[in-house]
Amino acid sequence: MSKPPNLRSHFGLTHVPFTREIATKDRWTHPQYDEAFDAIKNAVERRQSASLIAAAGLGKTMVLRTLKDRLPEARFRTHYIKVTDLSKRDFCRELCQACGAQTAATYGSLVRRLQERMESLVAQDSLRPVLIVDEAHDMRPDVLAILRVLTNFEMDSRLVVSIILCGQPPLRGLLKRADMEAVSRRIVYFASLRTLTRQEVCDYVAHRLYVGGCDRKVFVDDAFDAVFEATQGNLRAIDRLCLRAMEVACNKQAAHVSCDHVIEARQTVWP
Ligand SMILES: Nc1ncnc2c1ncn2[C@@H]1O[C@H](COP(=O)(O)OP(=O)(O)OP(=O)(O)O)[C@@H](O)[C@H]1O
Ligand SMILES: [Mg+2]
Repeated sequence: MSKPPNLRSHFGLTHVPFTREIATKDRWTHPQYDEAFDAIKNAVERRQSASLIAAAGLGKTMVLRTLKDRLPEARFRTHYIKVTDLSKRDFCRELCQACGAQTAATYGSLVRRLQERMESLVAQDSLRPVLIVDEAHDMRPDVLAILRVLTNFEMDSRLVVSIILCGQPPLRGLLKRADMEAVSRRIVYFASLRTLTRQEVCDYVAHRLYVGGCDRKVFVDDAFDAVFEATQGNLRAIDRLCLRAMEVACNKQAAHVSCDHVIEARQTVWP
């Protein structure tokens, strides 16, 4: 078996680039992420709720991770949960764990425990609970409806918990359903993200290489045409393709990644 290519020594990098573990401080900044971030943060500051809806791989979770890192711990208690296809009771159990509330056996008592916990966070600790629900497009409608119960304290006279709902486009349809009106009415801001333009793809790739420790031009110009064509400006697709293309170039002992390297990489990433 051939040895895996050593990208770091070949391209003079300190880290392997294009991995999903990128720290939020190293993220690529761009007005569209800043706008979404600022709007969601403003909603949270006002004890309101918001949503972030965009196709897979466009950077939603990165915006949420940044929010979690940047909300001051002295004022906010932020809980991040990823939704899978959970029942109402299991979802409440997850919420209890995330919020540090005691769990209970039945749905009714779980909801009561959650409400008490949210109230006590505000009353005793002056901490505002923020609940980030990622991959919310996978939520069952009856489970999504629980969020109305959680935001409905003291007959709506006081907003206690901010909820950030994040997911892929089917979430929009879910929130538009008549039986979800009580939940969507509580969401004051709907943010979205788009794919990158060709120029933005170049800037993004240069940034990921830079935080990987390399500030020279690794991809030649027409390699970007191939990356843009194959990925249509989707961040996750760019990550996968660029990493594979660098491995192809490295295996061939090439100093730069060419258009042909990207085309060859594309065949293994999306055969
Ligand atoms: N601002 C950014 N700076 C650098 N890399 C980023 C940024 N945003 C996203 N990425 C990269 O793109 C990848 C996909 O982003 P992310 O996981 O946030 O997408 P997503 O919209 O949450 O996708 P999904 O709907 O599948 O969960 C990340 O693993 C990360 O490598
Ligand atoms: Mg995500």
